[in-house]
Amino acid sequence: MPLIVSNWKMNGLGADGVALASAVAAKVKADPAKSREVAVCPPFTLLERVGAAIAGSGVGLGGQDCAPKASGAFTGDVSAPMLKDAGCFWVILGHSERRAGHKETDAQVRAKLEAAEAAGLATIACVGETLAEREAGKALEVVAGQLQGSLPDKRPGRWVVAYEPVWAIGTGKTATADDIKAMHAHIRSCLGRRHGGLAGLSVLYGGSVKGDNAREILGVPGVDGALVGGASLKAEEFWAICTARS
Ligand code: 13P
Repeated sequence: MPLIVSNWKMNGLGADGVALASAVAAKVKADPAKSREVAVCPPFTLLERVGAAIAGSGVGLGGQDCAPKASGAFTGDVSAPMLKDAGCFWVILGHSERRAGHKETDAQVRAKLEAAEAAGLATIACVGETLAEREAGKALEVVAGQLQGSLPDKRPGRWVVAYEPVWAIGTGKTATADDIKAMHAHIRSCLGRRHGGLAGLSVLYGGSVKGDNAREILGVPGVDGALVGGASLKAEEFWAICTARS
């Protein structure tokens, strides 16, 4: 069953955000097949309102980041227990926009993943190479390094890794099916070796997933679902992605 996660990033104000979440929830609820798992990750300010809008629909709620500490004097930060308290099941961590824009290191991402798992959240850990790294033939090496540095040693019951090539995010470019297949196999091989098994793991692809390319991407062997940015801001298009493989 594919897992389709929407990442609204820094988009969404009250009424529009609630309308978008309600529309997705209505589609999931009305879908007799129930052959997909869907989550929405709005900005922090909308968590409670979106949570209310999707209540009882089967759509999961997630945050887009959390602090490595549970509480304390960290002005502006939001902790994993706070996300849990706001009704989250999921949290996205280590997104490239945070690695690049907020200079998050692998060690910081790891501390956040540990905090999220300690709080009982299911984590979505993002990895992916830049264009320069891919062109230098280093994509596999870079992602292996991110996995090694960012993921905690302890294997959680439910864990998600999202492969998002940085150059494919918001650009309309996607990796080729062959490159996605190779990277997802590589991710499984790195994790299987280190963690002694892959139980509970889903590996998602992200980066310009749209209604018109979702079928091909979700059909690539080793792709368990998608992490969707821009195309998740329109209910119809997001639903087209959700249903692309069924
Ligand atoms: P786009 O789907 O807008 O390319 O964003 C992908 C992404 O970063 C999801 O986390």
